Amino acid sequence: MTASEIKIFDDPLAVAQGLTDDVVAVLENQNTIHFALSGGSTPQVLFKLWADQFATKIDWSKIHFWWSDERCVPPDDPESNFGVVQQLLFSRISIPESNIHRMRGESNPEAEAARYGEQLRQHLPIENGRPAFDIVMLGMGGDGHTASIFPHQMELLDAESDCAVAVHPDSGQRRITLTGPVLNNARLVAFLITGEGKREMTKTILNGHEDSRLYPTAWIKPVGQLNFYLDRAAAGNLT
Ligand code: 6PG
Repeated sequence: MTASEIKIFDDPLAVAQGLTDDVVAVLENQNTIHFALSGGSTPQVLFKLWADQFATKIDWSKIHFWWSDERCVPPDDPESNFGVVQQLLFSRISIPESNIHRMRGESNPEAEAARYGEQLRQHLPIENGRPAFDIVMLGMGGDGHTASIFPHQMELLDAESDCAVAVHPDSGQRRITLTGPVLNNARLVAFLITGEGKREMTKTILNGHEDSRLYPTAWIKPVGQLNFYLDRAAAGNLT
């Protein structure tokens, strides 16, 4: 995999600060950005940092928040990616409601995937025939999945649709996910990967091991910048 930049930090908070520095730099040059958030536990340190230290340092009205994926659960469910951001960030900053574009996990999955895809095309610029995000933040599962594109559903990497229904391989939980062509149409893809549990998969992906082709993360090759923000625990002996 050809990363544009691999940035290694001491700990998850430093990772969050490193990404924030780059987000602030993007904001300096644009009036509005479209930013897709990833879910799971890794980005929670980022949302807390933004609420604690950037509530008044960032003009949140310049950012339209979208999601890379969402679990098919109501927004008040502990599993909800939106619910986590609402609790940790949105409840503590001033941001217009109209800037928050959540995937409706409580809706019929197929209908929501179609609706979200339409919303993307209404709000985002269309480049290369696809909605173009300024920033897409992604995490990586220990199985090499990203967003909700899992190894057993590699076809989502080149789906015709912009947004699709996926299924978690273990729990069977249904998910709404952006598809590969939209993720790869971003101007900046920022992977946030922390913790020793991700070390082996991170090494496999970033060293371009032949097995990496089995994992969705290895197929994220955006038209724009591809940055990895790692802590030392995840980076291991990567240089
Ligand atoms: C989700 C995420 C998913 C996540 C990885 C890593 O909805 O779970 O979008 O792709 O980024 O599974 O999750 P952790 O950060 O919890 O390890």
